[in-house]
Amino acid sequence: MTWALVPAAGSGRRFGGEVPKQYLHAAGKSLIEHALEAVLSHPGIDGVVVALAADDAHWPGLTSLHGKPVLTCIGGGERADSVLAALRGLPAGVADDELLLVHDAARPHLHADDIGRLIEAARDCIDGAILAAPVRDTLKRSDADTRIARTEPRDGLWRALTPQAFHRDLLLRALKAAQADGVVATDEAMAVERLGLHPALVEGREDNLKVTTPADLALAEFLLQGRASR
Ligand code: C5P
Repeated sequence: MTWALVPAAGSGRRFGGEVPKQYLHAAGKSLIEHALEAVLSHPGIDGVVVALAADDAHWPGLTSLHGKPVLTCIGGGERADSVLAALRGLPAGVADDELLLVHDAARPHLHADDIGRLIEAARDCIDGAILAAPVRDTLKRSDADTRIARTEPRDGLWRALTPQAFHRDLLLRALKAAQADGVVATDEAMAVERLGLHPALVEGREDNLKVTTPADLALAEFLLQGRASR
């Protein structure tokens, strides 16, 4: 059994506005509904636990999608706390050595091919695997006056995307260790890396964007409309 965990307890402060960004609409549905649709329509995924903010007034109350269970739990103050809460919300039938996929609620444009390749890679690599995209732009390091201090080499640099796939016991161990050490892991791989492990990088589609700004939302609308009309 392979389950997905979707942290959706963020307030989306960077986006601004009243509505948390995962509930903004694009192509007729909220971003989180697109994300859940993408994950649960994949035959390799059996169910999902969604971590919600305690005061969430927008959750549409889904309990199943594509005939698969949608469970919810209350998330935490940081993304990693929300993922830990979702881990604890898994049903009893999900064994310790099962693979789990963690996917951002604010990534609505995920393709089935990427999910399939990620699952395959995570079955081959005991340390887990993540979708990622090579950095294409030239990178500048700024000084305190927002002038260029230097150019950073981009060779071997990747942008971490989601989903990220790990075995349940490893993910739990990694997130608990980061929490105990007071380290805020901004993705699951970071927590796993801290254990001295090396998850695999799986090159994913560059249009698997995380909506963070109004410009991202416009791009998501464009991509999702394009998919709907195909
Ligand atoms: O803010 P950011 O874009 O990094 O959030 C990534 C994902 O983590 C979003 O789906 C957001 O709702 C979720 N999150 C969470 N709990 C938090 C902070 C973020 O579930 N405390």
